Amino acid sequence: MNSFNFILMQKPILILGACGQIGTELTYALREKHGNDVIIASDIREGNEHLMKSGPFELLDATDYNALEGIIAYYEISEVYLMAAMLSATAEKFPMRAWHLNMNSLFNVLNLAKEQKIDKIFWPSSIAVFGPNTPVNNTPQNTIMEPTTVYGISKQSGERWCHYYHKKYGVDVRSVRYPGLISYKTMPGGGTTDYAIEIFHSALSKGRYTCFLNKDTKLPMMFMDDAIRATLQLMESNATKIGIRSSYNLSAMSFTPQEIAKSIQRLLPEFEMSYAPDFRQDIADSWPSSIDDSKARSDWGWQPGFNLEKTTEIMLENLKT
Ligand code: SER
Repeated sequence: MNSFNFILMQKPILILGACGQIGTELTYALREKHGNDVIIASDIREGNEHLMKSGPFELLDATDYNALEGIIAYYEISEVYLMAAMLSATAEKFPMRAWHLNMNSLFNVLNLAKEQKIDKIFWPSSIAVFGPNTPVNNTPQNTIMEPTTVYGISKQSGERWCHYYHKKYGVDVRSVRYPGLISYKTMPGGGTTDYAIEIFHSALSKGRYTCFLNKDTKLPMMFMDDAIRATLQLMESNATKIGIRSSYNLSAMSFTPQEIAKSIQRLLPEFEMSYAPDFRQDIADSWPSSIDDSKARSDWGWQPGFNLEKTTEIMLENLKT
């Protein structure tokens, strides 16, 4: 044991992709919970000032096995949260880059766990694992999947590998299928559900928004605080409670662009919404409208806390200048 963590109770945790939409808030939450020094943030680029100054940061490419292994050995990392990924819309433009990043980063952490260099992994999956043949409403945990997007194919393959590494090598890997995540601290990048964040920025700065999905496209969504709470709850649960080692369905709310526009209009009556669907409409059309997350509820006690109204209030309150 090196002097770095000799006196520490919590074993160091590494976050890959710490400067992204989820990684940023996960880093804040874990630093708040365990103390700044044991939460090592890493990314291929630097993040915001608060993230960079509140604890250790390493420039790291999650697909570089040797670099990752070096950081894990140096800090004596026990847990890794792998939040680096290329999202659905960008992945359609760069399929091979998306596959390379999304899969090789996962193989790196799974193999490090297999070699017992780390004890536990969190890896996010997505509603994108489902496809056009999946039941659209209240999509079950186990059902037809057949994803039709590059991102969805990478997440479904990832789920199978997580399940395989757990079964074959006993790797403690845990996962949820995040819905579209709504947050105000860091912008998302390249996702199909990003409209549900852009709309708040545009409502406040311009009083209007042109949505890239049509008005009736209903998708599963979640406020970021719920997503972070679910992640920590799953990671802190006793291993005996984790009956699913591919990935858990996770749900909080579902709405259409028209419904979120109405929710904003309740607080900003002048807000105007228009629609100009682009290539992301096809992606959204292949995903479910709502998700059955009863396994997450029964296995480790998941309960969402934020609905559309509450999310709208918080978003507008925090984004207004
Ligand atoms: N929010 C993601 C996306 O739109 C889905 O996991 O790509």
